[in-house]
Amino acid sequence: MFDRVQELRKSLHAHNHCYYVLDDPTVSDAEYDALLNELRVIEAAHPELVTSDSPTQRVGATPTTAFAKVRHPQAMLSLANAFNEDDLHSWYGRVRKVLGDNQTIAFVVEPKIDGLAMAITYQNGTLAHAATRGDGAVGEDVTANIRTIGSVPLTLGGHRPVNREASVTGADAATNAATFPPLTHTALPTSIEVRGEVYIRIADFERLNEEQAAAGEKVFANPRNGAAGSLRQLDPRITAARPLRFFAYAVGPVAGVRLRGQWEALGYLQQQGFAVNPDVRRLDDWDAVVTYCRDWMSKRALLGYEVDGVVVKVDSFAHQEELGVVARDPRWAIAFKFPAREAT
Ligand code: IVH
Repeated sequence: MFDRVQELRKSLHAHNHCYYVLDDPTVSDAEYDALLNELRVIEAAHPELVTSDSPTQRVGATPTTAFAKVRHPQAMLSLANAFNEDDLHSWYGRVRKVLGDNQTIAFVVEPKIDGLAMAITYQNGTLAHAATRGDGAVGEDVTANIRTIGSVPLTLGGHRPVNREASVTGADAATNAATFPPLTHTALPTSIEVRGEVYIRIADFERLNEEQAAAGEKVFANPRNGAAGSLRQLDPRITAARPLRFFAYAVGPVAGVRLRGQWEALGYLQQQGFAVNPDVRRLDDWDAVVTYCRDWMSKRALLGYEVDGVVVKVDSFAHQEELGVVARDPRWAIAFKFPAREAT
C-alpha cells in the first residue's frame, strides 16, 4: 500500500511539473484525475499515510480569519529605476567605478514581471511557509494560498518524468529558451528561501474577468490586481480556482548549497522544479545588455503576461557583495522601466 502511495505521488508530481512548469502536459486531465482519485481513496482509508507534501494536500481544509505577519529573515529589497538609456549607462558607470576597469562583468537580464513578490521557504526539501513581500521587512503569511499554485512545487528535487530530460544543459533551439550550465552540485538544501513573482497571464486574466462578470463578482483592473486579489483570499479554495502562476527569480537565505551567482541560482531553481523565465539571459557585453532592454521594450506584447521593464543584475555574488546596498536599493541591480501601458 505504502509503495503504491509513493508511486502515485511521484507520478502526480511529475505530471504536475510537466503541466504547470514545462507547459507540456504528459497525460490527459482524466488520467490525472484518476491517479489523484486513487491516491485520495487510499489516503482516506489510511489517514496515517497523509503527508503535507502529498498532491492531495494542495488545498487545505480550513479558511483562515486573517493573515499572520511574518518578518523576513533577510529584507526583500526594492530596485532603483532607470527611465531611459542615459540612466542605464550611468548605472553601468557606477558599477564599473566600484568593480574597476580591468575585469569582465557578466550581467543577468530578466523581464520584470508585473505581479507580486513572494518568499517561499523550503525546509529539508518540503514547502514550509510563504510570505508576501509587504514593506520588504514584514510580509503576510500566505502559505495556504501559495500551496494551491500548480507551478509552485510542494517538494524540491525536480519532478521530471523518467523518459523526459530537462533542457538544463543542452541548447533549446526550438523554443529559444534560456539554457543553464550543468550544475556541479545537485544537493537538496537543508533550507532555502525561493523568491519570485506570482502573476496571471493576460489570456487567463481575460477569462477570469469574464467569469467574474458572469457570476456578478467584481472584475479586476489588471492582471496584477487580479493576482493580488486572488492571493488575499482567506479561503484557499477560492485561490485554487484562480489562474495564478509563479516564476522564481532569486534565492534568499540558503543553507546547505553554495551558489556563486545569479545565473547559477536560476539554473539551480529550474533544476529543483521551479518555473524560471525562459527569456532570461546571461550577457557579458554591456552593449548586448542595452540591446536586450531595447528589444523587450518593443516586444513586450509577445510575452503573454504583463511586464513593466527589464531587471539588469550583476551576475557574480562576489561582485554583488562588493557593490552592496544603498538605502533599500542594491547597487548591483537596476530596473529599466518601460513606459506605462495604456489601458485597453
Ligand atoms: S529582483 C534586489 N527580478 O520588482 C532585487 N524583481 O522593484 C529585487 N520583479 O519587488 C528583486 N520581476 O516584485 C527581481 N526578474 C525579477 C523581477 C522582479 C519582477 C519585481 C519584484 C520586486 C520589484 C522590485
